[in-house]
Amino acid sequence: MSATKPTNPPVRLRRGETFEAPIETLAYGGRGIARPGGYVVFVGGGLPGDTVRAEVTKSKKGYAEANALEILSPSPDRLPDVDLHQGEPCPGASWQALSYERQLAFKEEHVADALTRIGRIEGVNIDPIVGADEQWRYRNKVEYSFGEQDGELVLGFHPRGRWDEVLDIEDCHLSSEATNKARNEVLAWAKSEGLNAYDPHDHRGILRNLVIREGRRTGQVQTRLVTSKANFPRPPVDLHTMIEGPSGSTSGPTGVLGEEFLRERIFDLDIILSHDAFFQTNTEMAEKLYGLAAEYAGLTGTEKLFDLYCGVGTIGLSMARQAGQVWGLEIVPEAIENAKRNAKANGITNARFVAANARTGMRPLIEEAGRPDVITVDPPRAGLSAKIVRRLIECEAKRIVYISCNPTTLAPNAAQLIEAGYRLTRVRPVDMFPQTPHIECVAQFDLVGEVKYVESPSERKRRERDERREAAQEAGE
Ligand SMILES: C[S@@+](CC[C@H](N)C(=O)[O-])C[C@H]1O[C@@H](n2cnc3c(N)ncnc32)[C@H](O)[C@@H]1O
Repeated sequence: MSATKPTNPPVRLRRGETFEAPIETLAYGGRGIARPGGYVVFVGGGLPGDTVRAEVTKSKKGYAEANALEILSPSPDRLPDVDLHQGEPCPGASWQALSYERQLAFKEEHVADALTRIGRIEGVNIDPIVGADEQWRYRNKVEYSFGEQDGELVLGFHPRGRWDEVLDIEDCHLSSEATNKARNEVLAWAKSEGLNAYDPHDHRGILRNLVIREGRRTGQVQTRLVTSKANFPRPPVDLHTMIEGPSGSTSGPTGVLGEEFLRERIFDLDIILSHDAFFQTNTEMAEKLYGLAAEYAGLTGTEKLFDLYCGVGTIGLSMARQAGQVWGLEIVPEAIENAKRNAKANGITNARFVAANARTGMRPLIEEAGRPDVITVDPPRAGLSAKIVRRLIECEAKRIVYISCNPTTLAPNAAQLIEAGYRLTRVRPVDMFPQTPHIECVAQFDLVGEVKYVESPSERKRRERDERREAAQEAGE
């Protein structure tokens, strides 16, 4: 009898250690996967076919994270980087060296992988990914950071993993020429006024960020300057946000100096947005996304539609003419005010909007509106909590169209819906973010038979306690 040859266990690499290894494939989120000594390492800055020298930044028992320090031999499939800032590839376009066909193939694969591996859902029908119209200059919103290099003010992006440095930018290839021009003008003004950048180490200095949004269909460019609280001449921007203290966020009290609202057109709808309202960052592909959501919703003119996580109402409003009634729910009150204005401005009279948290607002919404026939749900990257999915299930809608910007959070939500009696009928990725690993997709769930309520452990405990109490009362009567 021949003994099986023992295989050596993988050797764990510790934080700060460097290694050399080939990149085998790409993980969800865009990092390359290497296996030095059999140990799995997710490597930022490495693409399949590259051999890299990398430094470990985080070490766990089963895997590590690392950043590529040097590409020792590049993959023969690498394309030359076109979006470079000070000689470094743009950190916002980390897949630019991959051909667009391979980017699309990885995104399709990552959606399928998340649903089968995380959601444990078999036999999912994944329709082919919808490729983007524009592979560059598609972003309608960019957030730049101010910094200093050798005492000189710069305005650009943080290099990967270096939050306290800023790469100067002349031309961001992901955004339009018009918004690049606006950025350079604000930088020239700040230099001419002799203003300095906020320093995240000692929390001194004035200029923090510049947020630029663009109405792609209206040509409007809106600029918002984010600064510390300080006195300086009136800036040449539309909005000015002043932040006290060491916050890294760009949200804060905002004064209006020019145009308050951003105006945009989606399909035949005129839309306005407040600066703190969410809007899809790729306007052209948002239409494709919403068109696909409408196709999956399959409205016939009579249905009651709930548009959950509705932002400024674009999904519900673009479907309102095919629905009986639309009810939008969203947590940001300004976005709800925008949605109401957008309905009115477009002559849509069958849409109502409610400012509420989805967690607590869904039961009151059902009480007010009655149960929906169809739901569209479009949460942030974190997806839905198990509790919110239970609230969704309580709606007993015959169809749910889930618009997801993160397949790894869609997957457990999908599994929970399936457990409650829904079928995952089809899924289709839509590429809203070329040159990046970000993935958007639309999933259609159909109720098969009756809803099966699945309780959480705390709900079960509460029910059992109530039942015991009722039984004791009956016994005492
Ligand atoms: C991905 S965006 C989608 C917005 C809109 N459907 C669109 O296409 O423009 C997610 C939205 O959910 C909102 N949101 C986040 N958490 C929420 C919550 N707990 N309850 C309700 N809305 C929430 C955000 O403010 C944001 O507008």
